[in-house]
Amino acid sequence: MPSGTYAPDLAGRHVVIPGGSGGVGEGAVRAYLTAGADVVVPTRSQERADEFRRLLGGAATGRLHLVVHDYTTFAGAEELAATMEDRLGSIDDVVAPIGGWWAGKRLWEISESDWQDAFVRLATTHMAVARAALPRMKADGAYSLIVGASASTPVLGSGLVSMEQAALLMMQQVLATELAGQKRVFALVLGPVRTRTADGSGADWITADQVGSVAVAASASTISGREVRLGNQAELVQALALLNDTEPRPVGPVVAVSTLDPKQGRRDDLLALLAELAPQIRAEAGCIRYSVHSPRGHDDGPLLVIQMFASAEAFTAHSSAIAAQVPRLSALLETPPAPPAVFGPVPSDGNAAKESLSA
Ligand SMILES: NC(=O)c1ccc[n+]([C@@H]2O[C@H](COP(=O)([O-])OP(=O)(O)OC[C@H]3O[C@@H](n4cnc5c(N)ncnc54)[C@H](OP(=O)(O)O)[C@@H]3O)[C@@H](O)[C@H]2O)c1
Repeated sequence: MPSGTYAPDLAGRHVVIPGGSGGVGEGAVRAYLTAGADVVVPTRSQERADEFRRLLGGAATGRLHLVVHDYTTFAGAEELAATMEDRLGSIDDVVAPIGGWWAGKRLWEISESDWQDAFVRLATTHMAVARAALPRMKADGAYSLIVGASASTPVLGSGLVSMEQAALLMMQQVLATELAGQKRVFALVLGPVRTRTADGSGADWITADQVGSVAVAASASTISGREVRLGNQAELVQALALLNDTEPRPVGPVVAVSTLDPKQGRRDDLLALLAELAPQIRAEAGCIRYSVHSPRGHDDGPLLVIQMFASAEAFTAHSSAIAAQVPRLSALLETPPAPPAVFGPVPSDGNAAKESLSA
């Protein structure tokens, strides 16, 4: 069985884990503390805070900041994020294992209070935390939404859980698209998890500590935000290999291709903005090519931007450098800019001069 205890050094990072007092959250709290991070766990009651501190025992070092705070509203989450930024200086990573299980009724049998408890309150809390934290995070941090596999498989009598989890899964996709590669949002999609309240011994379940190790690996990696499936031990091994970058890393130049569809009447403004940014991009370390193309014979068509950088690292640095310009770009586009498709060269006939764009 894989240990799943890879713990990179996250000393100096500030992580907030709303829902950290829960069964799955506990594993994330332990993993980030082990990795050296400062961990803020907001909880809605003093009893829960005391109980959680007792439970952690010696693991509750001075880097654990347990705060009694209601983070379930937009205002409450905003206050939490602002206070954390004031007191600790930054919010670097977020893990959101918010909310537990609900069962017992088919969808047409639920009451309005079931709907509020199992769907509205939880979805609102996730939204509140994301909108407060994401604008404050930097490009190297990771926002990990904890989602159950019930997001894509209906569970008899627990339909509200499936619906709410499906909304979270879509939230990850929307955020990843809207952030256009500038910040990293993950959805860790869990099967059943062994926690302090669910034994599951003998089954192929992953443990809460292993969920934590995956969240830590996501924070420590430079990999773009994505859905990571953690349904069993085999998926855990794959996830850690991907996030810990133990798979061979492609070397050499990368080519990034983006299609930009201008809003009606804004094509000239878009061309002007791309021209304005060109000198800055071309001056970046590792930039080999930055070119803008228009379809021949279609003066109103989409624009194709082709960029070439000396390495994946140079392209990641470029993505961070250009992040501040994304709102200006988005304002001129029909749809928010999608992350560019990124390609590496494939050797063909050995003709180095002709098979590489950089030759
Ligand atoms: N356990 C599993 O096997 C499993 C499997 C797949 C997916 N998941 C997902 O993982 C997440 C966490 O599950 P868990 O088993 O750790 O749950 P849990 O033990 O019940 O903990 C959930 C935590 O969420 C916080 N919370 C905030 N608003 C809440 C609300 N309206 N209702 C309930 N809790 C609220 C609570 O923290 P405070 O009271 O301290 O604020 C609580 O400690 C859930 O989204 C769940 O769907 C769990």
